[in-house]
Amino acid sequence: MAKQRVLTGITTTGTPHLGNYVGAIRPAIAESKRGEFDAFFFLADYHALIKSHEPAMVHQSSREIAATWLALGLDTDSSTFYRQSDVPEITELSWILTCVCAKGLMNRSHAYKAAVQANEQNGDDPDFGVTMGLFSYPILMAADILMFNASKVPVGRDQIQHIEMARDMAQRFNHLYGDTFVLPEAVVDDVAVLSGLDGRKMSKSYGNTIPLFLPEKKLQKHINKIKTNLLEPGEPKNTDESTVFEVWQAFATPAQTADMRQKFADGIAWGQAKKELFELINSHIAPARERYEAILEDSQYLEVVLKKGAEKARSQAAPMLAAVRKAVGLAAFK
Ligand code: TRP
Repeated sequence: MAKQRVLTGITTTGTPHLGNYVGAIRPAIAESKRGEFDAFFFLADYHALIKSHEPAMVHQSSREIAATWLALGLDTDSSTFYRQSDVPEITELSWILTCVCAKGLMNRSHAYKAAVQANEQNGDDPDFGVTMGLFSYPILMAADILMFNASKVPVGRDQIQHIEMARDMAQRFNHLYGDTFVLPEAVVDDVAVLSGLDGRKMSKSYGNTIPLFLPEKKLQKHINKIKTNLLEPGEPKNTDESTVFEVWQAFATPAQTADMRQKFADGIAWGQAKKELFELINSHIAPARERYEAILEDSQYLEVVLKKGAEKARSQAAPMLAAVRKAVGLAAFK
């Protein structure tokens, strides 16, 4: 039996941090190694253009994210890893879907509605700063998914609506033109959500992240900045309210976690706990960090891997797009 196709995109803005690693990258790579699914992972760099108009940032983030996934051991033989912008079939499909997608569906998109609401609160025009890219972003995302007949799409909770919209578009298309697309389903794993330096969810938008591949000294400095309470050495500390403990747990074996729990009860000093946390994280990521730096220094490697991925992806996308074009009446004249 053919393996089930699983697909997910990573918007290429920002630098990967420990929260991305624990919540998304680590589980995805582990799955790619199990080889149970036919997995598609891609850099959603067209989506990045919705969020950022800074070419250097878009470019750099794309490189860093690609290097991160490869350094951490993504298996690009058993999975298909590519850059969205290397697969022009996706934007063509996006237009065709735009022509079957009701405008009203896009009016209901959370991302668009949030922008409008923020404008209204500020007394601005409701559509101030809203591009058509933001407005129709779920259509591009539907094209990403439907292009490859993905049946499962692992995403965060905030993305569920977009998968439902992709289903809607697929259904509408199938209804108008005959069975063409598989109806995708969102898979929302309740993966670990890591807290950041200030105790809130680790997120780029809060500016409280610990980037994954910081040089050692900087990693240590960041870890030292994790917020703690004022309990002195010798005073027992509560593991439940501690970001230091939570991050520890995300990297430790069960035995190491039990050990740290005991140290908290025994009143370990915050400085010591952070020192041990740094050593734990560093020992986990040092080998990957070395590969990461080597990949970024090599001017060819990323391009070669991604071009190969794009070829694999396009070998699937081309026949699909041909079928879609034919279905809608775009065919050669005879
Ligand atoms: N919009 C998604 C996010 O911001 C990224 C994404 C783009 C995606 N295309 C996709 C995710 C297709 C899953 C499938 O997280």
